[in-house]
Amino acid sequence: MTMAKQVGDARTWIRGARLVTAAGDQGTADLAFAGGVIEGPTPQGPVDVEVDGSGLVLTPAFIDPHVHLREPGFEVKEDLASGLAAAAAGGFGTVVSMANTDPVIDEPGLVRWLIEKAASLPGARLHPAAAVTMGLGGTTLTDAAALKEAGAVMLTDDGIPVSDGEVMRRACEWAADLGLVVQTHSEDPTLRRDGVMNEGAVSERMGLPGNPRIAEASMVYRDCAIAAFTGARVHIAHVTCREALDVVAHFKERGAPVTCEVTPQHLSLTDEAFASFDPIYKVAPPLRTQDDVDALREGVKRGVVDCIGTDHAPHTRDEKHADLLSAPFGIANIEVAFPVLYEALVKSGDLDLSALLRLLQDGPAHVMGWDAPTLDVGAPADVVLLDLEAARVVDPSTFKSKAKFGPWDAQTLQGWPVKTWVAGHLAFDRAESGR
Ligand code: DOR
Ligand code: ZN
Repeated sequence: MTMAKQVGDARTWIRGARLVTAAGDQGTADLAFAGGVIEGPTPQGPVDVEVDGSGLVLTPAFIDPHVHLREPGFEVKEDLASGLAAAAAGGFGTVVSMANTDPVIDEPGLVRWLIEKAASLPGARLHPAAAVTMGLGGTTLTDAAALKEAGAVMLTDDGIPVSDGEVMRRACEWAADLGLVVQTHSEDPTLRRDGVMNEGAVSERMGLPGNPRIAEASMVYRDCAIAAFTGARVHIAHVTCREALDVVAHFKERGAPVTCEVTPQHLSLTDEAFASFDPIYKVAPPLRTQDDVDALREGVKRGVVDCIGTDHAPHTRDEKHADLLSAPFGIANIEVAFPVLYEALVKSGDLDLSALLRLLQDGPAHVMGWDAPTLDVGAPADVVLLDLEAARVVDPSTFKSKAKFGPWDAQTLQGWPVKTWVAGHLAFDRAESGR
């Protein structure tokens, strides 16, 4: 069903880059691609574009199982063109878009429309998720079989927890039959209430309504238990606290078909950021404490965490500049995700580069049930060149995303994507963007 991405015509030869994948460092080599696929170290015909890769790392473009591209309905925040361009600028070749648009992606026609529209755009490849329940209403299941047939790769009500356990159970029973992954936004609404930040010392100090970690941990337990019971592949989105990660580890140890992701923001920021009263940090589930950040990093090291999901969640500046109580939840991050992760996980000494790449390549592919991306002959020419030495000041005015602001603005970060190709097309070139 999936409409093919337009294939890049130019035979491209990247010379002298260091090839690194999740499998390890393969040393300095050349890589040629044409017709949208990798040809190997040597071009199989006349070269159109030669790229000097010296001093750079060449690796498969990243996969993001969790982005909000806002089209249809919220194009003022982001649209397919800006979101897919932003993804490519972040080094991502493939993204899974969430269903909390307007209308909600709960009908096969909408899935087909998204796929067709995205295929005609430059930037990353799009695989849409579809909703678990009609209109994200939490009561009536969508037609998962028809949605899958139309090209939906995941079921999720992300943004809103599926609060009714029976609905979640039946959705997982269908999904298990269909082999579809169900992604959860695990926060018990009756415990979360109107919390705008993590419940703890900082929320008490600031007098702001807190969202307690038990809201997350208890629903992660329910969702993992339903996965174990139904046999459905359940993917826990944005795990943020120690207790929730412990629950995932518990179920994984017992062989439950559960995977989980963490976000760049939850690996690098804490609720102390709220001392500024800046709603830019308002996200659901919330930024937690340093102990939680430590737990997530340990979970990444131990392999409990399967992958990174950015949860790129753009909103307008006006919306995010509202007061803390009324501003929407969400952080736009896809263009800085890699340097944020490189700083937090690799420069910190927690992971080597290959282990970080695993979280952005093999890990999300495994979650989705896809083949792991490679640089092998015949593989799709979805590749990214990374400059690991360059430290750059984050300049949001250069973002392709419509959300030209974020928590890392004006910070100096190291490790940046410089060129991204998707199906052999140059989908992002930092040199051209003047940044
Ligand atoms: O912070 C969030 N923003 N969490 C969600 O679950 C939804 C997302 C959004 O759509 O903005
Ligand atoms: Zn989300």
